[in-house]
Amino acid sequence: MIYTKKSLAKLGIVTALALSPLAAVNITGGSAFAAVSEPLLLIENFDSLSNGSLPAGWKIAEGKAQVIDGKLVLSSPSISQPTRVIVPLDSDTGDYVFEADMTFVSAASATRWASLMYRVQNEDYPYYQFAIRKGTNALNGLEFAERTSANGWNVKETNFYPEPFEYNKTYKIKVIASKNRVQQYINNKLVIDTDQAADWLKGDIGFQANGSTVQFDNVKLTKQTQELPPVQDSAVLFPAEPETNIINPPTLISGNESSASRFLQVDPNSNGELTVNGQSLQTALNAVKNKQIPVLKIENEGLNEQLIDALEATQTTDIHIVSSNPAIVKSITEAYPTARGGLIYTKASLNKHDLEQLSFDVHSSNGKTAIIPQKLLTKDVVHYLHSRMVSVWGQGADSKDAAHALIHLGVDGILSDNPDYTAEALGEYPENTIVQRPIVAAHRGVPSLAPENTMAGYRLAYELGADMIETDIQRTKDGHLIIMHDNSVNRTTNGTGNVHDLTLEEIRQLDAGIKYSQDFAGEKVPTFKEFLQEFKGKDVVLLVELKDTGIEEQVIQEIEEENMANQVVLQSFYLDSMVISNKLKPEIPVGFLYSAGVPKTESAKLYNARIMTEYGTENRVTLNASYGSTYKEFFTYMRQRGMLSMHWTFRAQDPFSDKLNEGLIGPITDYTQWLTESPISLETPIKKRNLKVGHSANIQAKAFVDYRTQKTDNIESELFLTEQSDVVQIDGNTIKALKPGVAQVFIKHTFTMLGQEWNIVSEPIEVTVSE
Ligand code: G3P
Ligand code: CA
Repeated sequence: MIYTKKSLAKLGIVTALALSPLAAVNITGGSAFAAVSEPLLLIENFDSLSNGSLPAGWKIAEGKAQVIDGKLVLSSPSISQPTRVIVPLDSDTGDYVFEADMTFVSAASATRWASLMYRVQNEDYPYYQFAIRKGTNALNGLEFAERTSANGWNVKETNFYPEPFEYNKTYKIKVIASKNRVQQYINNKLVIDTDQAADWLKGDIGFQANGSTVQFDNVKLTKQTQELPPVQDSAVLFPAEPETNIINPPTLISGNESSASRFLQVDPNSNGELTVNGQSLQTALNAVKNKQIPVLKIENEGLNEQLIDALEATQTTDIHIVSSNPAIVKSITEAYPTARGGLIYTKASLNKHDLEQLSFDVHSSNGKTAIIPQKLLTKDVVHYLHSRMVSVWGQGADSKDAAHALIHLGVDGILSDNPDYTAEALGEYPENTIVQRPIVAAHRGVPSLAPENTMAGYRLAYELGADMIETDIQRTKDGHLIIMHDNSVNRTTNGTGNVHDLTLEEIRQLDAGIKYSQDFAGEKVPTFKEFLQEFKGKDVVLLVELKDTGIEEQVIQEIEEENMANQVVLQSFYLDSMVISNKLKPEIPVGFLYSAGVPKTESAKLYNARIMTEYGTENRVTLNASYGSTYKEFFTYMRQRGMLSMHWTFRAQDPFSDKLNEGLIGPITDYTQWLTESPISLETPIKKRNLKVGHSANIQAKAFVDYRTQKTDNIESELFLTEQSDVVQIDGNTIKALKPGVAQVFIKHTFTMLGQEWNIVSEPIEVTVSE
């Protein structure tokens, strides 16, 4: 299935600009206005203007602007004091190409911005603008916005640029406007492509700064003589998956057409050209385009240039690059940032040390996925990698039984030469079947049972069986890392004041338990070190949120001092903080915390999922959105692309079960106990059973309820058949043999979690009936 949405993808759209030679235009020290019929409407480099002046006819609508050293400089100290310069045009048009060089000199914060204004009415407002924040890498770093007739903002489209703009670095900004169509570019990369510019079709141009000081230079306005093509309906690929009742089923990857992803092994031929099964790579990419997600296996070094040529020529951005060599994955994903990475595990065995190294290698090569042969996979392996944000693709499923076994392990993807076995197996489960245990992160410990962010709460989380323990880090006045959610200690302790204004000594005097209950009196505010040391070597991962910026190096240093890079996942609302952390210690997974609206339509949801996946991929972060920002298509889209994520903060049962049904894997919750009391797996005592016609057998399952203790409980279960059988008859836990043949019998356990019924199912038991 292919959904489409107006897209930013077609970066190569070229507009035929009928530029006349500049020599034909009157270029003076001031502005040069060409006749309406001339394609060049204005050109200005400010070089011959004196400091403090403005080009003739340009007007300051508000704030402070002047030419300084051959550049137009706009200064705005704050949001409430913007600066706007309007350039009235002689020509009565709105179809133009507006170009300028832009340089941030300073900004009050990363959210402050500058803009090119266009189709300005009344030399004031309404108008449209291409706004560019200093922090261009924020989700709304770039905007197509309207200043409305009511003098308010209507932000119609947003996007991000892969990196934040640097101070004193010049970027080429361009707007192409034609009728209702507008394209906005940075350094020739198309970043906004819209058809929502129908309200104002003509008007002047201008420049604006908001909480920033910005230089503009080399301004050029050219008439746009040709219409822009319709907004590209670029495909958002959402391949259909097999029908199944499993709520979070694995995606399929194979070398043939019947899977969501297409595995393509890339080899250079004798001429050094890249091929897939003898075809050129371009041909292979075009063949799967808009049908399957390409997964390229690359084992040769030095192919980057040719590979990127093929990806660009086929406009392939939604792609997975996998290799057994981490250096290859790293160099390709660095050179081609929208590519997602995966590592193929090739050793004959997989012990604890291998597993740790594999997780490190996946992350430090910019990957998110590990491909592991079925024979090396266990539930513990999947669990280890999942809780370190590595998505697991099992390779095998070469029979239907093997497919069931792999599904049963809770993998995120199945790579198989015979995907039809998996497709068939997936169709055989009862409603609401869970095969993948959610990774439960205990939010600030277990605040529903113990004071938040205290050692008592963390220990309880561990005892309850949390997979991860979430916590919030800040730095004290005297430079120590401590754990506290709020900026101040007022809410959770018996003291007052901001963490930044208190010393460690002062904070350690406080009681962090007494306000919660007398039973917890005496609990201290933990240091980060204390928290690390408590769980060092235990089977739990620490989900560490950096509440401050500028502490990244110290956080990582303390983790390294405890040799715990293998036990920590970092996250933050500050993207830059995670980018810095990732550079400092690429082995540690990092997550970006954010909230966003959920689009209304199916195609808008998929488009949003695509943009977010690109955002996570390009910034090397997992997308740890608030749960209200998530939706079923988001989970499925990400799962198909080998990306895990954690979502917060579950404090009520209904949204919790709803999100699990939609495919949530990583809940962050105040109520760890709601999930950890539930069974996680159902094991059968036998895999095969022979029976004579007329005889019966009784079969009971055991359920593992906790990974740490490997405790098993005898639980209530029932047998079931996936299809009508005349070989056996099922009654409760009894199989009765009817006639010679073979039947697949499953065991099912139904339990209640979050106020809803769920099933876990065993691998099938093969029952052979003979005379
Ligand atoms: O784990 C993410 C979540 O903790 C973010 O929100 O305010 O509880 O830190 P907050
Ligand atoms: Ca937090």
